[in-house]
Amino acid sequence: MSKPIVLSGCQPSGGLTIGNYFGAIRNWTKLQQENECLFMLVDLHAITVRQEPELLRERIYDGLALYLACGLDPEKSAVFVQSHVPEHAQLAWALNCYTQMGELSRMTQYKDKSAKNVNNINVGLFDYPVLMAADVLLYQANKVPVGNDQKQHLELTRDIADRFNNLYGDTFVVPDPFIPEVGARIMSLQEPTKKMSKSDDNPNNYVLMLEEPKKIEKKIKRAMTDSDEQARIYFDPEEKAGVSNLLTLLSCATGESVESLVPQYEDKMYGHLKKDVAEAVVNLLEPIQTRYHELRKDEAALRQIMAIGAEKASVRAAETLKTVYDRIGL
Ligand code: ADP
Ligand code: NA
Repeated sequence: MSKPIVLSGCQPSGGLTIGNYFGAIRNWTKLQQENECLFMLVDLHAITVRQEPELLRERIYDGLALYLACGLDPEKSAVFVQSHVPEHAQLAWALNCYTQMGELSRMTQYKDKSAKNVNNINVGLFDYPVLMAADVLLYQANKVPVGNDQKQHLELTRDIADRFNNLYGDTFVVPDPFIPEVGARIMSLQEPTKKMSKSDDNPNNYVLMLEEPKKIEKKIKRAMTDSDEQARIYFDPEEKAGVSNLLTLLSCATGESVESLVPQYEDKMYGHLKKDVAEAVVNLLEPIQTRYHELRKDEAALRQIMAIGAEKASVRAAETLKTVYDRIGL
């Protein structure tokens, strides 16, 4: 029997956060043994927001080196750059014609992003979920490991696949989301009611994976908690968003469950918790950072890995696109 197909990606924009790591990349590394995996850097998605060409090019290398440093293995998985496989854009066009304006208008990420980028509400931003559907359906992926924020997009992907299958007969595998139990929604440090994102205007809201340890410590120690005079430490994302986020981060970074962590803080203050979170996150990231800097030096090697990854991905992508064109009558 063939292995299940897993596909996921991150945007190569502005460095990856510990939200991207705990919500997505870390889980990818674990899926590599039992599944056939494809991991992308979604540069076509990244240009829905204005990018500096030179910087974007750098960030694609940065992203790949970071993927590898996190443990993505180009021998086991196809690790590639989205724009290197032209079928993504081609399938997205076809799927556009099977997606309704109304469906896309309901996407909360579009509503959020267009409210934030009032000067550049481009069609790509609106169409982002269709490109994502193409990414997934192109490889007949069974599982898509994502953070919570991508759940709605994946539901749309499923709807588009179903619609196409109903019209033309079984063409696409209808994918399932694969959302981690802990870490699926890491919150902002200063505003713990919204998710951590690298595109946040306030850099104190996120921790980048490649940030200096001293800076990471500082950011975590300054994280917003609450004004509970007794500084009670327990898990309740509604009432204690900041503290709960710190507990989640500690759990993600140490592997200990939140339930077993809470009693350890019974007589402690918020400062203790923050110190432990900072230490755990730094300890986790340091070896990744060291590996990253090694790998990032060799751009020729990175280019070769990208090329091999794109070649692997292309085989499957071309096959699906051909079937789709055939079914449609192209
Ligand atoms: P961002 O929102 O930081 O720009 P991407 O859109 O590139 O990130 O998302 C890459 C992956 O990281 C997706 O699977 C997404 O669900 C996940 N992810 C992003 N932010 C978080 C977060 N704060 N907590 C958990 N997972 C996240
Ligand atoms: Na996102």
